[in-house]
Amino acid sequence: MGLSHLTSFIITTLAAASSVSAAATTASKSVKCSTGQITSNAACCAIFPMVDKIQKDLFDGGECGEEAHSALRLSFHDAIGFSIHGKKGGGADGSILVFNSTELKYHANGGIDDITARQFPVFQELNLTAGDFVHLAAAIGTANCPGAPRLKFMFGRPPPKAPAPDLTVPEPTDSVTAILARFADAGFSAKEAIALLSSHTVAAADVVDTTIPGTPFDSTVGTFDTQVFLEVLLKGSLFPGNGSQPGEVLSPLHGELRLQSDFELSRDPRTACFWQAMINNQQYMMSQFHDAMAKMQVLGQDTSRLIDCSDVVPVPKPFNQNIKYPASFSKKDVQVALPFPNLATVRGPAPTIAPV
Ligand code: HEM
Repeated sequence: MGLSHLTSFIITTLAAASSVSAAATTASKSVKCSTGQITSNAACCAIFPMVDKIQKDLFDGGECGEEAHSALRLSFHDAIGFSIHGKKGGGADGSILVFNSTELKYHANGGIDDITARQFPVFQELNLTAGDFVHLAAAIGTANCPGAPRLKFMFGRPPPKAPAPDLTVPEPTDSVTAILARFADAGFSAKEAIALLSSHTVAAADVVDTTIPGTPFDSTVGTFDTQVFLEVLLKGSLFPGNGSQPGEVLSPLHGELRLQSDFELSRDPRTACFWQAMINNQQYMMSQFHDAMAKMQVLGQDTSRLIDCSDVVPVPKPFNQNIKYPASFSKKDVQVALPFPNLATVRGPAPTIAPV
């Protein structure tokens, strides 16, 4: 973004932020907006039409597709640029959108350029700060995925001041020790780190192996279920694309990509129990993910100045079924020794997972 654009943009967003803090002091219990929705604070009424616009312009009218997945990933890459010890970025402040020319050069942000390019024009049309926009879009996109918890949305982040520094976003080539240290530095326990990784149930890789863009991490990439926690524990036997790439390890299924970091976190003594506890435990996974995300969505923010506008987030469709082993797999293919739930197997031959 050019400097003049950035300046006018900061003025607009500053104005938006100051009207929000004024509204924060005049909160009422329950308000009916002129558009008919009920919310806990009148300041949230203005956001309902923005939600409709984001659904229409970004998410194809409410799909759990690539843009929804990428919006969730973007919220992580934005927020994690923060340290509880200071001297890093502003956290969940939207810096990745405003200072994209800096942050997208970082190696760990590979593949993020598509979603920032998609989001930027929509963001410019709305009277929201970049932090509010990025984290609202993530909450809406996630809500489009059946089985997801309804994430929170806190309104009123000030505009970002500076880009986050490099090397704050974990990479799939990092060791478990390095990954957990980075999460701890940002204020997350090992258990919360695994909770956040529930997101990889609606995820695919474009740049890990560039010959196979859109390769999912599990066989149900359009559903926010616990399938990824099961499939990462299955014995791997193949690489879905052009051989072994950095950050990639053997996958159990054609068309599915397994990250080295997910593989190691699922088996490491510090995190394996948290990982396994998620399997076929939909309500537990939803609440763990919801709570860890609530923390992530306001990292580095003064929460006393934010308004809870979670009412604006669409209610996701539920997912109430037991998960299953992919066809041709069963308990004998699971590579861990700990007690494991009995699950059925999808009928038929071993599948090839379609790209997103
Ligand atoms: C150990 C920490 C993590 C590592 C190493 C990691 C790594 C990755 C990698 C390498 C990709 C594929 C990028 C590509 O090739 O296009 C990816 C995708 C994704 N990640 Fe993570 N990730 C981590 C944590 C998280 C967290 C905490 C979230 C959200 C809360 C998240 C959400 C996603 C999503 C939704 C995608 C799919 C994006 C899409 O399909 O467009 N990840 N991650």
